[in-house]
Amino acid sequence: MEKQTLLSELANDTLYGLISKPKYLLSKYFYDDIGSSIFQDIMKMPEYYLTDCEYEIFDTYKTQIIDEIIKNNTLFDLIELGSGDGLKTKVLLNALIGRLINFRYVPIDISLKANIDLEKSLMYEIPSLKVKTQTGDFFRVMKNMNGYSGLSKVILFLGSNIGNFTDDEISLFLENLSEFTHSGDRVMIGFDLKKSPELINQAYNDPHGHTCRFNLNHLARLNRELGANFYLENFEHHSEYNPQSGEVKSFLVSKKTQKVYIEALEENIQFYKWEAVFMELSRKFDFDTIEKYAANYGFSVVNHFTDKNEWFTDSLWIKK
Ligand code: AVJ
Repeated sequence: MEKQTLLSELANDTLYGLISKPKYLLSKYFYDDIGSSIFQDIMKMPEYYLTDCEYEIFDTYKTQIIDEIIKNNTLFDLIELGSGDGLKTKVLLNALIGRLINFRYVPIDISLKANIDLEKSLMYEIPSLKVKTQTGDFFRVMKNMNGYSGLSKVILFLGSNIGNFTDDEISLFLENLSEFTHSGDRVMIGFDLKKSPELINQAYNDPHGHTCRFNLNHLARLNRELGANFYLENFEHHSEYNPQSGEVKSFLVSKKTQKVYIEALEENIQFYKWEAVFMELSRKFDFDTIEKYAANYGFSVVNHFTDKNEWFTDSLWIKK
């Protein structure tokens, strides 16, 4: 136990995940600099429809969205949780700046490099924008920022990042969001919707191999940061959508019986042949569920903005 208190959070979470039965790793650790860049490759591929849908929503409805989020052109904070490369948000940022709306953009991301790149690109593309990036786990940054400014808030949580959360994590997240907001504050959350299982399966089993690389990079990260000796070729990626639960679950499956030593943990981890490590949950939602989330945590739904196929929705809520 002595040893564990001295370990980094990554080391601790990895240890707990890999000694659990069944084994798991936490999806938030996908996003080191390399993982964030592989995720950009995922977003660019046609099979990963989520990004195109959300881009379409922002492009089509930017005027309505802005009308709904500004009250009386008093300064507000536009806070984005998990901002990444900001591709979709830039559509909104440009439209806001175009209408001379008075706001500060506060992107929060777990990857420092993603933040630095975003800040640089914004300085060049939208020089008059006020930006204050924050790096870290957004649950924690949100807690630390509580009371950071008395300004009214518009909080964006896009890309169906919320799909990574378990039921308990969704409750905790919405509880935090509810605590962090005041009456009249706006929240916009991107939810990937239930649709043909074939389409969903293609998005998470792409022919380019980006999703596989994304998952294997988690192990490569453990090699780099914890001195582990995973052989990536000894693992196979598998993702599957369950149309009843709405859950895509991703796994890395051990192709053989093997032992992996993790230096930082001073621990050997045993993998049996075809043993699976649970890597990620990517849940798909329906409007009913989304409405219940809003109502249960003190928000009213202003509008569910959706793409023309109704594959994805950005749901705009206002705190009661
Ligand atoms: C960034 C969490 C929304 O679950 O669709 C993409 C991550 N994983 N392909 C998702 C991801 C595999 C993505 N989110």
